[in-house]
Amino acid sequence: MSVKRIGLLTGGGDCPGLNAVIRAVVKSAIGTQGWEVTGFLDGFRGVVEDWNLRLNIQSVSGILTRGGTILGTNNRADPFAYTYNTEGSSGPARDMSKAALLNLKKNEVDALVVTGGDGTLTIGQKFFEAGVAVVGVPKTIDNDLSATDITFGFDTALSVATDAVDRLHSTAESHRRVMILEVMGRYAGWIGLRAGIAGGGDVILIPEIPYDLDKVIEAIEERAARGKEFSIAVISEGARPKGGELTVRKFVKGSPDPLRLGGVGNLLAQNIEEKTGLETRVTVLGHLQRGGIPTAHDRWLATRFGIKAVELIAQGDFGKMAALRGNSIEGVPIKDAVDKPKRVDPRGEEVRAARALGISFGD
Ligand code: F6P
Repeated sequence: MSVKRIGLLTGGGDCPGLNAVIRAVVKSAIGTQGWEVTGFLDGFRGVVEDWNLRLNIQSVSGILTRGGTILGTNNRADPFAYTYNTEGSSGPARDMSKAALLNLKKNEVDALVVTGGDGTLTIGQKFFEAGVAVVGVPKTIDNDLSATDITFGFDTALSVATDAVDRLHSTAESHRRVMILEVMGRYAGWIGLRAGIAGGGDVILIPEIPYDLDKVIEAIEERAARGKEFSIAVISEGARPKGGELTVRKFVKGSPDPLRLGGVGNLLAQNIEEKTGLETRVTVLGHLQRGGIPTAHDRWLATRFGIKAVELIAQGDFGKMAALRGNSIEGVPIKDAVDKPKRVDPRGEEVRAARALGISFGD
């Protein structure tokens, strides 16, 4: 198959490093292969609506260090269950995949680079099965994609979360308070676990280990008995009490995963205060974890992923995603990345290491 023009999109929640991928894809597609590059706007919405622009070397100049994505993104635009109506507001889900396929054809896109997390890559896989020459690039701050050691964006989110734990320490200590930091991650506890370890948290509550409130309190009171009159708890938004439910903030119609989590930190704080009388405060880190300048690690990884995506297209190796395995970048089936989410192993080495430090998981 001879390639003249490739398409590129960024879908799902934005993530630090997306612009580094765009830059790498555009530079190597044009510079090493002599292809043209069409960028679709707002994720798969741009493919359905035919919103796109030609990307050249000038378009990607100076974007390496910028957060967000110059192409825009969307986490509720699934062409197979499309909920935008003609006015652009929300309506009943329609299958608009044929319109998307026609637009790819009309724009003479020979291959499509899909940069996204599990939702976007699952859509990419469906288009691959429908005959589109798709290659994937794994992004998400949640780090919950299988088949790659790590996703880009995670390192930046982890740095922001760790910085927050560091900052909470001094104010927690000064006031002798319990400080709770709620971090993102959806159903995976990677950000919570690693920020808790790196920041020296006392309690880490993650989705993979449902917590018992009494055990959390026990850990805080044990510290107080040892003269440590403050405690820091890092809680992932997807954590839940044993036998309890997820704390859902909002339901987003048309999104591959319509649940938006949030609020479990407040629930925990209320419970701790009620049961112990200890003054407890909550910080919800939210989208700060996704915004701003990507770390050096994320720029480095996103760049290597972008270059690999172009290489996969040049080799005609479609249905594959760039992945980090050890220290090499490889092509792995997109299907393997999205079939099963990668979650923290409750009995794994990282959790055992945290326990060895005396960190409580509330279990
Ligand atoms: O998947 C990335 C992520 O930031 C999750 O950690 C979080 O649960 C979700 O997206 C938030 O989505 P939104 O930006 O739609 O609120």
